[in-house]
Amino acid sequence: MALVALGVCGGIGAYKSVEVARGLQKQGHDVIAVMTRAARKFVGTVTFEAITRHRVVTSQFEAGANSDIEHISLASSIDLLLVAPATANVIGKFANGIADDFLSSLYLATKAPVLMAPAMNTHMLEHDAVRRNLDVLAARGVRFVEPGAGYLACGWIGKGRLAEPGDIVSAVEQLLSPSGPLKGKRVVVTAGPTREALDPVRFIGNRSSGKMGYALAEAARRHGADVVLVAGPTERRPPSGVEVVHVSTATEMRDAVVARAAEADVVIMAAAVADYAPAEASAQKIHKDRDEMILKLVRTPDILAELGRARAGSGRPLLVGFAAETSDVVAQARKKLSAKAVDMIVANDVSRADAGFEVDNNEVTIVTQQGEETLPLQEKTAIASHVIERIATLLKSRITVSR
Ligand code: CTP
Repeated sequence: MALVALGVCGGIGAYKSVEVARGLQKQGHDVIAVMTRAARKFVGTVTFEAITRHRVVTSQFEAGANSDIEHISLASSIDLLLVAPATANVIGKFANGIADDFLSSLYLATKAPVLMAPAMNTHMLEHDAVRRNLDVLAARGVRFVEPGAGYLACGWIGKGRLAEPGDIVSAVEQLLSPSGPLKGKRVVVTAGPTREALDPVRFIGNRSSGKMGYALAEAARRHGADVVLVAGPTERRPPSGVEVVHVSTATEMRDAVVARAAEADVVIMAAAVADYAPAEASAQKIHKDRDEMILKLVRTPDILAELGRARAGSGRPLLVGFAAETSDVVAQARKKLSAKAVDMIVANDVSRADAGFEVDNNEVTIVTQQGEETLPLQEKTAIASHVIERIATLLKSRITVSR
């Protein structure tokens, strides 16, 4: 049983958080509701008090509640801070460290994981200011339950509706006690492209969307792992329950991965890492003052190969690579398996229009020392689940053998 502080903000979805509180209790958790001033315009405190059987916290300066500096004492006793609905205002406050009411002070004072369920008008959700704040929070380890799409109270149709109470409760459950074959395992996943700067406005990049890597991170989390997602530049929203490290270049990705590899049980390199980068990035914008231009490129660090060398003899972490090929897919993958000294290569044919880059589907062949297995064309999320299951099996056989 966990103690959950349920932050309720002033959005029309506030009524749904009554159901969230009840759902959490059904799972055996104790809930303390913290309501903002605006939230109380939508739902009364009595409703939450009757359900949670605790006094509802509404103000930092309530008489009789300060003998124990309440936001500090609550901050250190909760197992989770859940905010549902999270308005653009509270997201902005959390992102910028503003502590002008109980809920925003609680956020700064607690070391407990934080889960937010944003809800607002579609245009507000898409606004640069809100997106930036969400990114800041995600990079800080805050987890999110994605808002749903549909009719909004303001009359718009679009994304922004508070996630269903059942989904919020499941996300809490996952965060508090993920279970599955990877429980207790640390998994590092890389995703997306890298960018190598030519000058302040241009870079060499590639077509990777990050979809596969993000799906793998989500699947690893669902299977119980503690996941760090090292992500190159993409527009994707990180899956909930996953720590995200944003990087841009191959070297930054290498540093982020290597720093975490020693502690990891599994490293999955799903990122499309640039193999070459400009020998020198120009500090000033390059102008078109010549008829032709020859770029000198130098090799970037091969992260996977470096991990393969570094773990020589120990077999830990388990290493998984991806191979994007346009011909002789399996033969190329097998070559990479031994050249980079890794345990698994997930190979796909990127010359196909219906699979691979920038689409939702993929068909892959998993190549290991033991053999090959082709997973037929399906959603990347489904492929990710299968790949994670194969990794869990391989990890288990490893542990059995080495003991
Ligand atoms: N990889 C890496 N570091 C690099 C390049 C690739 O860690 N600098 C990883 C990729 O994330 C992937 C695997 O190595 O998991 C294979 O990547 P791929 O580009 O297909 O193969 P390369 O080793 O780069 O070989 P080539 O481009 O010659 O096919």
